[in-house]
Order: sequence, then C-alpha cells, then structure tokens
Amino acid sequence: MRFPGRLVLLGHPVSHSLSPRMQNAALDSAGIALRYEALDVEPRLFDQTIERLRAENAAGNVTVPHKERMRVACDSLTPLAEHVGAVNTFFVDDEGRLVGDNTDVGGFAAAVTSTLGSAPVDCTVGVLGAGGAAAAVLAAVESWPGVVAHVYNRTPERASILCERFRSVARAVDDIGAIGGAQLVVNATSVGLHDEAMPIDLALLSPGSAVVDLVYRPGETAWVRAARSRGHRASDGLTMLVEQGALAFERWFGVPADRRAMWEAVRTV
Ligand code: ATR
Repeated sequence: MRFPGRLVLLGHPVSHSLSPRMQNAALDSAGIALRYEALDVEPRLFDQTIERLRAENAAGNVTVPHKERMRVACDSLTPLAEHVGAVNTFFVDDEGRLVGDNTDVGGFAAAVTSTLGSAPVDCTVGVLGAGGAAAAVLAAVESWPGVVAHVYNRTPERASILCERFRSVARAVDDIGAIGGAQLVVNATSVGLHDEAMPIDLALLSPGSAVVDLVYRPGETAWVRAARSRGHRASDGLTMLVEQGALAFERWFGVPADRRAMWEAVRTV
C-alpha cells in the first residue's frame, strides 16, 4: 500500500468521535508527522470527497452513516471486509486503488479475550442485534473452535438473513430469553448509546456469564455497570474501539501501534 498522504475519519456527524485523540496519540508515539482528522462529510458530498481522498492517497476509518456507501465506493475489499459485508478501515494500494478493510472483527476478538482472560472455546455466544456490528461479532465467532452464536434482533427477519450468511455457527432466536443461556452475551445494538436503556434484562443471564457491550459512553454504559455489580465480567465498547484503531494503524503504517498511549488518550475523556 501507499504511505498515507492524509488520515481521516469519515462520518456525519463526527465531532464527538474519540478516534482523533486516540490515533494522534499513536502517531505521536511512533514519531509519524501526520494528523488524524475527523471529516464531517454530508451525504451529498460523499462521492466527490472520496475522489479527492483517493488522489491524496488518504487512509482512514468510516463511521455512521457512510459505512455502506464506502463499501460500494471501494475498488476492492479485503476477504474479511467482503465476508463481513462492512468496511470500517480504508487505504490506497500501490496501484492507486481504494481498498476497504474491516478491523472491527479483530477489535471485537481482542475485547473478548481481554474480558475473559483467553479466547473462548466450546461455548455459546448470545448476540443482540443484526447490523454490521453483529456481522463482525459472528465473523469472530467463526474463528473460535467449538463456539456457536444465538442471535436475537428486534426485527427478526434481519437476524435470519444475517445468520444465513454465517450459517455454520449462527442461529437466529425469536425469544430474547434464549440469549440468557449463553456464556458470553454481546450487545451489538445501539441501545444504551444515548441513555441508560439496557439491551437485555440482566436477570435473564446465567450466573458466571460475561458481557461485552459494543457501545461506549463516558463512565461506561449502564448495562456494563449493572452487570459488573451483579458479579459478571463486563467491558464496554472502549476496549474494542482501541483495538480496532490499533489494528487499522498497523495496516496503514506497518509498525506496532502504541495501545497504551491510545488507551490513555480515550480513557480519561
Ligand atoms: P451497526 O452497523 O452499528 O450494527 P445498524 O446496521 O443500524 O448499525 O444496526 C443497529 C442494530 O441495533 C440493529 O440490530 C437494530 O435493530 P433493528 O434491526 O430492529 O433496527 C438495533 N437497534 C437499534 N435501536 C434499537 C432499540 N431501541 N431496541 C432494540 N434494538 C435496536
């Protein structure tokens, strides 16, 4: 790939994002003289922005609402991004082609390993949600030996369609209570992002199960705080945010990302 001429986060809005603080800490630590900028791109300006970024050899990340359009705008996708059906990271390769990648899968897997102390084996993961984030969760589940997923979604048809794509490991369930038997429960919905709402009643969860929330909020999400107070191992989306960012940094620059510096930059916000 080409050394990035520019590093950006594409979204709308993006001003609330922690990624610039986190990536700039990693850039400083590696002594790379680039800044990571949050670029607020109005949907009507998306195509022309992509053309400019391609010409600038830009690399970066994509967030709401541009993930789907970015997947289509890329000249090629890595096999993982193709499989997940979602792009969160991009760069320009040696031939000048815009390549879409996905580091959410690796970010999620690292968050789970850090929550449990090791990668899961021979167990059931309960997944709440059926969008791009849930697809990344199921791709990670595929990589763990003997691990299967039960997927519950508010709109059941979306869960069925998603599970069909990951049919070797995933099964859609119609009753949220069926998630309660899982050893690991993951919130891949946006519930709890803006308020104290909980994606699943904690009373339904098995004792000893762990919870991972892909949502993060200052002071952690209400679900994670409540789960921990009931004795569950629990972590919110900040761990995944740092890991997906570190993996993206390593794709762009080919050098290790300073995860400690990245974590310090976001933990204190
Ligand atoms: P992402 O790419 O981040 O996964 P998405 O594709 O918009 O985003 O998916 C959001 C997920 O959160 C969906 O599973 C959505 O459920 P629906 O498919 O029924 O829309 C889920 N979600 C969002 N708000 C929710 C709510 N209030 N209650 C339950 N699920 C919710």
